[in-house]
Amino acid sequence: MANSSQREKWGSKIGFVLAAAGSAIGLGNIWKFPYVVGQNGGAAFIIIYIICVFAIGLPVIIAEILLGRTTQRNPVGAFKALSNSKFWPYVGAMGVFAGFLILSFYSVVAGWSVGYIYESIAGVFSGFDSPNAAGNHFNQLTSNVYWGIGMLAIFIIISMLFVYAGVQKGIEKGSKILMPLLFILLIIVMIRGLTLEGSNEGLNFLFKPDWSKVSANTILEALGQAFFSLSLGMGAMLTYGSYMSKEDNIPKASLEIVFLDTIIAIIAGVAIFTAVFGTGQNAGEGPGLIFHTLPIVFTKMPGGYFVGIIFFILLTIAALTSSISLLEVVTAYFVDEKKWKRHNAVLVFGFLAFLVGIPSALSFNLMQNSKIFGMNFFDMANYLSSNVMLPLGGMLIALFVGYVWGIDKVLTELKYGSEKLFSKSRWIISVWIILVKYFAPVLIFLVLLQSLGIF
Ligand code: TRP
Repeated sequence: MANSSQREKWGSKIGFVLAAAGSAIGLGNIWKFPYVVGQNGGAAFIIIYIICVFAIGLPVIIAEILLGRTTQRNPVGAFKALSNSKFWPYVGAMGVFAGFLILSFYSVVAGWSVGYIYESIAGVFSGFDSPNAAGNHFNQLTSNVYWGIGMLAIFIIISMLFVYAGVQKGIEKGSKILMPLLFILLIIVMIRGLTLEGSNEGLNFLFKPDWSKVSANTILEALGQAFFSLSLGMGAMLTYGSYMSKEDNIPKASLEIVFLDTIIAIIAGVAIFTAVFGTGQNAGEGPGLIFHTLPIVFTKMPGGYFVGIIFFILLTIAALTSSISLLEVVTAYFVDEKKWKRHNAVLVFGFLAFLVGIPSALSFNLMQNSKIFGMNFFDMANYLSSNVMLPLGGMLIALFVGYVWGIDKVLTELKYGSEKLFSKSRWIISVWIILVKYFAPVLIFLVLLQSLGIF
């Protein structure tokens, strides 16, 4: 199972692209992107975000996938294979740890989404007459210890099933069904939003740039969001890349993944804000937008009962294909490096992620007031992984590919599968090198300093 000749591979190119896009597209796109856009000046933020995605996210995603494909290893094994120094494997180890930590709290929010599928089917939303009622209902649910932990358990068990079944039979097959379904469901919700009277206001909010709200911090916020949304900086793309073959075109696949992730975020923004404005709700709700505001939106729009069910199913699917990739990173590490059987690794680390997720679930009730540095466990896990470990990991990955690995070796590897690009548009490769060597590390470093509160 563990040696490289028997290592699993993707069955098809589209399988890889859908699985990697599945990792990228998640709560970050559908829950977070819309409200962050709402808080940061709408279209102006979107423009900056797109620049960050293509100028920094795309070059780094190429670097990460390349590390994986070259070494056919997990994040720790990849660095071990390419450098003699003891330092670099720790970068991989930090990634594996970050993946595990993200899985634990991400699954708490994903669990709410599972619970809301039930709430919407049961018709609970129809009893809400004010946004307060929806907010109270949400607070009531999350303050119930058993609900939070139960939904967390259900969500993690579903994620485990896919990773347990393996790369081709679980992750790839699942992504091939779930991703098209996600696109279709999201488009249905978007069309419903666009056909509401008053939806124009939502579009204005989203696409009319308000540059007055943009500051240096906005740029850093956009870059941080781009990293989280593209699943960068902890070896998820590296691990998925390790199941690729040398015939696959990495720059092309990366561009497809980045494009899909960005377009889905924007479609989610359109779907949500047309509905919010079309039913006269408050767009500036922030993180509560999906669970406080949308249930009211669904009660107010024609056909809202079904749109509500569809919405929470699609949110759960999006989160699921992301949590699968997080669990796969930890699994690949124990399979490659510790020679564990895949099944055992999935059972052990799925269960541990559930245990570590419990204090995150309890951060909304029993442990609400247990704070370290002013943050409860959930906020702390989120902050440490998303704001510290991901940018740090992303910066180090860019530095490794830009300076340590050796640019000749990097280009030899990158060329496999993308020979045409090398012969016809070589300048693109030169631009990529510049972005990875100079642009990405410097900007990511600034994000890191900002996250640490240094400026
Ligand atoms: N990108 C996912 C989202 O947008 C979350 C995610 C999955 C992730 N795997 C990751 C984030 C790895 C950072 C690193 O919801």
